[in-house]
Amino acid sequence: MKILETHIPIIQAPMAGGVTTPELVAAVSNTGAIGSFGFAYSNAEKINTDLSKARKLTSNSINANFFIFSEVDAPSNKDYKIATDLLEGLPLYAPISSQYLPSPFFPALEDQLEPIWQHKPKFLTFHLGLPSGHILQKAQSLGIHVGVTATCLEEAKAIQELGADFIVAQGIEAGGHRGTFSVEGEGDSKLSTFQLLKVLKDESMLPIICAGGIMTGSDIVAYLNSGAAAVQMGTSFLCCHEAGTTPIHKKYILEKRHRETVYTQGFSGRWAQSIRNEFTSLMEGKPVLSFPLQNTLTSALRKLAVQSENGEYQSLWAGRGFGKARALPAAELISELISEMNDS
Ligand SMILES: Cc1cc2nc3c(=O)[nH]c(=O)nc-3n(C[C@H](O)[C@H](O)[C@H](O)COP(=O)(O)O)c2cc1C
Repeated sequence: MKILETHIPIIQAPMAGGVTTPELVAAVSNTGAIGSFGFAYSNAEKINTDLSKARKLTSNSINANFFIFSEVDAPSNKDYKIATDLLEGLPLYAPISSQYLPSPFFPALEDQLEPIWQHKPKFLTFHLGLPSGHILQKAQSLGIHVGVTATCLEEAKAIQELGADFIVAQGIEAGGHRGTFSVEGEGDSKLSTFQLLKVLKDESMLPIICAGGIMTGSDIVAYLNSGAAAVQMGTSFLCCHEAGTTPIHKKYILEKRHRETVYTQGFSGRWAQSIRNEFTSLMEGKPVLSFPLQNTLTSALRKLAVQSENGEYQSLWAGRGFGKARALPAAELISELISEMNDS
């Protein structure tokens, strides 16, 4: 893939929610791999601050990532009460103030992108849907390469039709939010990362970056040999010293390796993969508000869980390969991955 030619073919995945600090992104980019910011929930001021900080630490290429939020209606009083009663009835009690759903329900993408047009990171990626054509054209006119997540062939075709530069193919092993265009995940082919690569490779002209369950240098080589232009690794970087991952989240990844991961809508209203904990088990099959309203509603609980160092009520996003995560500075992790690639 031309746009990646000068880089180590590893992208540290964008991870919204405080994980992708300027220190992490810069440390990754300084190795010649690509560091990514997950800016989904950030306002323009924070985005500008983070990009400025990263620029002071690296002059290499970085990626900035955003969610494509779908319009959502305010819930009925009845649905709101069901959802809040359910959360307030959990063993970890975090009161939710009444009418706690400040509108607008999510940040306006056009506002979030203002600092992007000034800082012009080399890559701009979108998750959970397609950006509008004019955003894509503006980015490309500034020399920014644009990628979009696909979880199935139909989404990949739409990305190609839009004119994006590359596809991030997200397999079912991936940690965090499933990038399906549909909020409820209808049409999700739930393919493994390898299966998805195979399907897309046969049909798509665009470079494919594989994401989901990629944890070692030999995994990377296997994907590159099968036609991936690069890999995007999230879980692998969660325990890096520079990552803003909460200490308990890191501890669970490193010490609860016997646990399974589960897809849950309980934290945010959208399917996302987390290490199983009390919350994901208690919320199985329970009613939730639409994304991202449920995310706002659970924020008091998640904050309390972080403050009280309780991993059972935090969103412990992680992919199925989390048992292989390493607690290292990012540059050392990348150097180990490269050495494993050379050995395999
Ligand atoms: C903690 C966490 C947060 C994530 N947040 C985002 C995000 O903000 N934007 C995005 O495109 N992908 C996000 N993802 C998904 C990653 O881009 C990628 O698909 C995934 O990490 C790959 O699978 P792996 O975790 O097994 O490496 C997130 C993943 C994790 C683990």
